[in-house]
Amino acid sequence: MTSTHWLELQGLDLRENGVQIIANATLKVGAGRTAILGPNGAGKSSLLRLMHGLLKPTGGRLIWPQTMTQSMVFQRPVMLRATVLANVDYGLALRGIPAAERREKAIAALHRVGLPELADRPARRLSGGEQQRVALARAWALEPQLLFLDEPTASLDPASSREVERIIGEMAATGTRIVMTTHNLGQARRIAEEVIFLDGGRVLEQTPVEEFFRRPQTTAAQAFLQEEAP
Ligand SMILES: Nc1ncnc2c1ncn2[C@@H]1O[C@H](COP(=O)(O)OP(=O)(O)OP(=O)(O)O)[C@@H](O)[C@H]1O
Ligand SMILES: [Mg+2]
Repeated sequence: MTSTHWLELQGLDLRENGVQIIANATLKVGAGRTAILGPNGAGKSSLLRLMHGLLKPTGGRLIWPQTMTQSMVFQRPVMLRATVLANVDYGLALRGIPAAERREKAIAALHRVGLPELADRPARRLSGGEQQRVALARAWALEPQLLFLDEPTASLDPASSREVERIIGEMAATGTRIVMTTHNLGQARRIAEEVIFLDGGRVLEQTPVEEFFRRPQTTAAQAFLQEEAP
């Protein structure tokens, strides 16, 4: 790799239904683990979707210095009406992985998230936390170079959250770049190296994680930190 960043946003805009959702976002992402933080409605999910190519910017551009394989895990896991194994397998099938390799990869991914015994269960009958882990397995099975996670532990109990954090940490340790949103500031500190702080659709800060929590530069970030962790 010749550049130190792997994604650059240049004056990125997103307007929908007359609402400016992302305004003139200009930044370079080079960290291996990035947390996007900000209050409800700040534009975090929209920014993730723009980065993942699920939304088309209405202005500006995204520049990828190198092509990367990516996948995304949504806040509410999307489960097919099928078994857990079939759900993990489906992502692989979409990528054109031959059937013979898929089963092995899918089972390995379920082991990774600690759910091999649920392989034959109907996915939609699983608890929220279990579904979240299946969604992570589905993403992990693809061995993406870059994984977008939108509030991966928002509805999970503390034990499940820790488990999901452990899985994310393992993915990062095997070289997967992580870009995630979270309202759990402890989690951002534990996982991220860098924080992108959004407020009202604007990128107000991009800072190493410890510095963000110790010395937020903007009054908006200071207020946010006080509200979230008084
Ligand atoms: N299609 C749309 N048309 C109009 N407004 C939209 C549209 N999509 C999103 N918005 C608005 O854009 C803003 C940003 O939404 P987004 O979901 O990105 O926020 P968020 O930071 O992820 O919030 P949360 O913390 O609640 O998940 C919100 O005010 C939302 O209502
Ligand atoms: Mg969101």
